[in-house]
Amino acid sequence: MEKESFWHIRSEHYDKLFWTKDVSYIDAIIDACGFDSGDLVLDVGTGTGAIARAIQPMVSHVVALDNSSSMLDKGRWEGFSAIKWDIADRVFKDGLFDKVVARMVFHHIFDNLDKVFVRCFDLLKNSGKLVVAEGVPPTDDPDVVQWYTDMFRYKEERRVFTPGELIGFFEKNGFLNVKCNVHTMSGFSIRNWLENSGIEKDLQEKIMDMHVNAPDGVKEVYNMKITKDDCLVDTRNVIVTGDK
Ligand SMILES: C[S@@+](CC[C@H](N)C(=O)[O-])C[C@H]1O[C@@H](n2cnc3c(N)ncnc32)[C@H](O)[C@@H]1O
Repeated sequence: MEKESFWHIRSEHYDKLFWTKDVSYIDAIIDACGFDSGDLVLDVGTGTGAIARAIQPMVSHVVALDNSSSMLDKGRWEGFSAIKWDIADRVFKDGLFDKVVARMVFHHIFDNLDKVFVRCFDLLKNSGKLVVAEGVPPTDDPDVVQWYTDMFRYKEERRVFTPGELIGFFEKNGFLNVKCNVHTMSGFSIRNWLENSGIEKDLQEKIMDMHVNAPDGVKEVYNMKITKDDCLVDTRNVIVTGDK
């Protein structure tokens, strides 16, 4: 599917996704950023602006960038600079930002992720910080990673990162002092996630069935709880930081 149509469909229900507003996840990202009140921050793949809005009170200014007008149209941008642009393309001068943040964006970048890391590196001031938050499989066990990858194939075309792979992108593209914090979102509702994913009903049911009938090893590492009409899991998210 063409990217803008994908995001157009997803934008309709995006803000109903519980995880986008999960305060513990947002707080963990803010902690990892270590903001200063004078910081100029770039929120890459800002979407409808959940992260940009949480950051704004703590810093001097937030620039919110996204290459989907459908997603940007659902946000409120008073007090921000919002820009429709692809992060892979040059738009700002180098050395401009104190922090660059990207939550749940880089798994959507398939063919030029190294270039995007280099762009982020160049956009940072010396000693600036890149903060990337991504959902990852609940463990690095190859069987679990394979189940997670197979499950996501029914939802969207995407990368599946393990924490080590994401750290590798930072290290090979020049970042120093790379650190990885793990954040668990407890009781993540698969039903809410699927109903607001923009995918067809039959695929939603297929993915729900995969969870309900997952191998015991997957259920265990997900701390899965199956209720009458939902399935709750503990998701593993990593917040990786690297300094220029
Ligand atoms: C899952 S949403 C995350 C939105 C927001 N960061 C959040 O955490 O709620 C991913 C966003 O990344 C944007 N995106 C994907 N690839 C991009 C690129 N190359 N340049 C800019 N934005 C991109 C999409 O349009 C989408 O709005």
